[in-house]
Order: sequence, then C-alpha cells, then structure tokens
Amino acid sequence: MKLAIVYHSAGGNTKALAEIIHSYLPGAEIYRIADFSLEKIDEYDGLLIGTYTWGSGDIPAKMLSFYRELEERDISHLTTGVFGTGETNYKHFCNAVNHFRNMLYINSNLAVVLKVEQMYQTTDLKRIKKFVELFQNKVRNSI
Ligand SMILES: Cc1cc2nc3c(=O)[nH]c(=O)nc-3n(C[C@H](O)[C@H](O)[C@H](O)COP(=O)(O)O)c2cc1C
Repeated sequence: MKLAIVYHSAGGNTKALAEIIHSYLPGAEIYRIADFSLEKIDEYDGLLIGTYTWGSGDIPAKMLSFYRELEERDISHLTTGVFGTGETNYKHFCNAVNHFRNMLYINSNLAVVLKVEQMYQTTDLKRIKKFVELFQNKVRNSI
C-alpha cells in the first residue's frame, strides 16, 4: 500500500505532529506541501493531510490551492485522514481541519480526524497512535 503524509507548518507544531505520525507509519512518504504534487495521486491508496489554522478559523494560504485541487479531482479511490494543530483559545479551534474533513468526507473515503493543541504532548501519544492504526486498517480494508 502506498501512503503519503502531506503537511504545512509555519511554526513547527504541525511539522512535529506530522513527523510523529510518520514514525508510527514508516512506510509512508512524507512531504511538505511545497514539495508535493497531485499529479501522481492516483498511485496512492492513502493520504494524510496536516494543517494548522489561520485567520479566523481559516485554511492557511499555502494549503488553500491544495484543498481546491483535491476538491476538483476524482479522489474517490483514496482513503484519507486529516490532522492539525491549533489553539483552543481561538473561537474556531482547528477549523482548517474541519474544512478539510468536510470536503474529504464528500470526495474520498475519509477514515480519521485528529486535532491537537499546539505542540503535541506525551499525553497525546495514545490517540495519535490510534489515529494511525485506524487509518492503516481502513486503507488495508479498501485495497
Ligand atoms: C494570526 C493567527 C491566527 C490563528 N487562528 C487560529 C484559529 O482560528 N484557530 C486555531 O485553532 N488556531 C489558530 N491559530 C493558532 C495556530 O493554528 C497554532 O499555533 C498552530 O499550532 C500553529 O501551527 P504550526 O506551528 O505548525 O505553524 C492562529 C495563530 C495565529 C498566529
């Protein structure tokens, strides 16, 4: 099974989350959004997307074109998951994750969603592992 983790991070919180997810999913390829092209998306069985939230609950600009491209492609074959970091003192906690979740729910085989407060803590590891396990199982069952 061919898997990719694609993320965007400005300050490092989402990067750290993407990397710990990758450590539990070592067979997956990991890309910063700037280095990933959707051209070969048909080759993948699973895609995990990581984003922080900006503005008033918005998708960061660098993730927005990716979101729109995904929305326009046929990704119905793809098992997906979305994860992100945010801060609960903002009105719309991890709302960029919600935007991706809603779009992926319609367009793909959405398996998992994960929201983490800023930098993940050791207390988050259990649910991060669970997120990866559920994703892997869903990909296995879909191929
Ligand atoms: C201007 C600004 C707006 C933000 N807006 C939100 C928001 O609406 N919701 C949220 O959950 N977090 C918001 N955040 C917090 C970031 O999403 C959070 O710090 C995140 O962990 C940053 O990820 P990164 O370190 O990967 O860049 C905002 C941060 C900044 C600086």
